[in-house]
Amino acid sequence: MNRNDLCWCGSGLKYKKCHLDFDERIESYRYDVFKSQCKPPHDIILTPGDIEGIRKSGVINDAALDLAGSMVEPGQNTGAIDEAVREFIEKNGGIPACLNYEGFPKSICISINEVVCHGIPSKKTILKEGDIVNIDITTILDGYYADASRMFIVGGHTTPEAEKLVRVAKECMELGIEAVKPWGWLGDVGAAVNAHAKANGYSVVTELGGHGVGKDFHVEPFVPHVGQPGTGMLLVPGMVFTVEPMINAGRYKVTVDKKDGWTVRTKDGSLSAQWEKTILVTETGTEVLSS
Ligand code: MF3
Ligand code: CO
Ligand code: CO
Repeated sequence: MNRNDLCWCGSGLKYKKCHLDFDERIESYRYDVFKSQCKPPHDIILTPGDIEGIRKSGVINDAALDLAGSMVEPGQNTGAIDEAVREFIEKNGGIPACLNYEGFPKSICISINEVVCHGIPSKKTILKEGDIVNIDITTILDGYYADASRMFIVGGHTTPEAEKLVRVAKECMELGIEAVKPWGWLGDVGAAVNAHAKANGYSVVTELGGHGVGKDFHVEPFVPHVGQPGTGMLLVPGMVFTVEPMINAGRYKVTVDKKDGWTVRTKDGSLSAQWEKTILVTETGTEVLSS
């Protein structure tokens, strides 16, 4: 690309007035293959217009999570929460991204106790006092995806062990997000998450992770929740991805339900907790686009 060409980002500005300095900074690094260091590709660096689209989608997604949370109570069936969230998202002009995604049969994921993620809501699944529940919702609005999840404690109280797991899992996500710095490295995220989980005697699921998101549901980079500082992809302003650590009270291994092909459980049957936010890398740090 020449200095006087229109910038690759679609801003309509000349390259020299737009992303030239940015690209030169990306090129200035000596990417260490022994640390799996790599450049972010142009197609995951989003424009201000794209970011505004995701931000708007996030407003609806966060409100959908508020609604879902308000329905969590002993005796509630998870199918009813799924239906209410679907209606809410559609009423606001959006689409629930999970519905029919690679054959997923419902609009949101509801994952209870030893279910790590991708739990399928059902009229037959009844929440009971003391359950710990992850509700994960992704909204598409005008083509833009916002993805977030929260934990809820059914009835407001559970065992001290389960309460601690829910709290520490949230701290893991927060520390992972704090580790995101413009011109830092993706491995910093997993290093921060894993250190906090380990310090509390927990393990981190490695088979699933966060992901780039925005113009599609799951794009580059895969965001591992374990790792070494200073490794992986260079983080630059304009990248949007999720941080969504799955923290197990026992071992890190998981299994997928053979019958439904979706429900992921801890292999050892221990409790698991997860929180997720969609974040933007900014010039100075991060901005939360959905939580
Ligand atoms: N929202 C999940 C994530 O955080 C993905 C769910 S895909 C589904 O990436 F098909 F299970 F819904
Ligand atoms: Co999600
Ligand atoms: Co996600």
